[in-house]
Amino acid sequence: MGPLLFQRLSRLSADSILGVMAKYRADSSPLKVDLGVGVYRDLSGNTPVLDCVRRAEREVLAAQTTKSYVAAAGREEFNGAVEELVLGSAHAARRGRRARTVQSPGGCGALRLGAELIRAAAPGVTVHISDPTWGNHTPLLGSSGLRLERYPYYDTAANQLRFEAMLERLERAADGDVVLIHACCHNPTGADLAPAQWQVLAELLVRRRLVPFLDLAYQGFAVDLDADAAGVRLIASQVPEALIAVSFSKNLGLYRERVGALIAISESEAGADASLSHVLQIARSIYSMPPDHGAAIAAHIFANPALKGEWLEELAAMRTRIADMRALLARQLREATGDGTFDFIRAQRGMFSLLGVSAQAVERLRDEHHIYMMSDSRMNLAGIMPDNVNYVAESIAAERFG
Ligand SMILES: Cc1ncc(COP(=O)(O)O)c(C=O)c1O
Repeated sequence: MGPLLFQRLSRLSADSILGVMAKYRADSSPLKVDLGVGVYRDLSGNTPVLDCVRRAEREVLAAQTTKSYVAAAGREEFNGAVEELVLGSAHAARRGRRARTVQSPGGCGALRLGAELIRAAAPGVTVHISDPTWGNHTPLLGSSGLRLERYPYYDTAANQLRFEAMLERLERAADGDVVLIHACCHNPTGADLAPAQWQVLAELLVRRRLVPFLDLAYQGFAVDLDADAAGVRLIASQVPEALIAVSFSKNLGLYRERVGALIAISESEAGADASLSHVLQIARSIYSMPPDHGAAIAAHIFANPALKGEWLEELAAMRTRIADMRALLARQLREATGDGTFDFIRAQRGMFSLLGVSAQAVERLRDEHHIYMMSDSRMNLAGIMPDNVNYVAESIAAERFG
């Protein structure tokens, strides 16, 4: 007789972010600084429940009369409001009734739904992802059996975009391939396309018949809700087909409630209905129905002008804090190093930047200085506080050539 079923499995190594988190927790030094985990932190180091969420949650619970199922597509009013937030009220794809939106368990759920939809339509298609990209893109998209390839995106030595190399690579993609694009606040680099570059990219996608899969996980974290969706809106107004994975984990702080959506844009109304029918079948085959609680809170906030106003203020406060910490860290690094090597941190957007130092330097920062970041030197700027920024800057200055 052979081994039992689970005896055939060998233990997998821990996800690198989980490894960093475990080491941070085990470190008893009062100096320790967590720049690893990808969640927002306020000045007290907390990842707070937003006030607008607390209020909406109370109102939602008070009005709730049943816990019965909603639908595989989730809440209709949530889906409509998400489409408007992402595409704007008068977008051509919405006017032409070519967009269909399905509530998903977080942005990850939307990415996976999108990957399965692509596979249902064309299993041989390649998805081009940026080099570097968020670590979860590979398992989320690759596990559905799609082939993944990387396009150059960011030069970690020069700390800048590789836009020409990106275009050059995408020119050679096969007809009908998919291109995964970070809509704003690129994770892990913090480097986004400029408006003119979005336009050039849109023209290439149209001409080469490539399908954009836009990942919008940080709307409102760079400039504001509209400006951060400008690239998505521009591309979606020019291509016949697009997918958009939306997450409200960060901008509403609803991480564990799993609130997201997949928007699928097709070239015709009938095509949109066909895509929707597949997305719903895929959702039913994976998890049946999305969780409701977080989406009910989000929909209540989107529909209530006072709550929405409160949200916009809280979102602006999160954004300002991150921008302030970027400026402060860049200034302290200039002082500590005596040069402008790290000035790029100030102008980048969203929570992440790649420090651009070696894996050994990252290890020494962790082991000698108790400063924890990802091994590719991704740091979360929301882990910087006015009272640790000096220590972080001096430690980086001491180890940067390590
Ligand atoms: C680039 C990117 N896409 C999508 C997500 C989706 O996150 P969630 O599934 O928690 O909504 C994240 C979260 O870290 C992200 O960084």
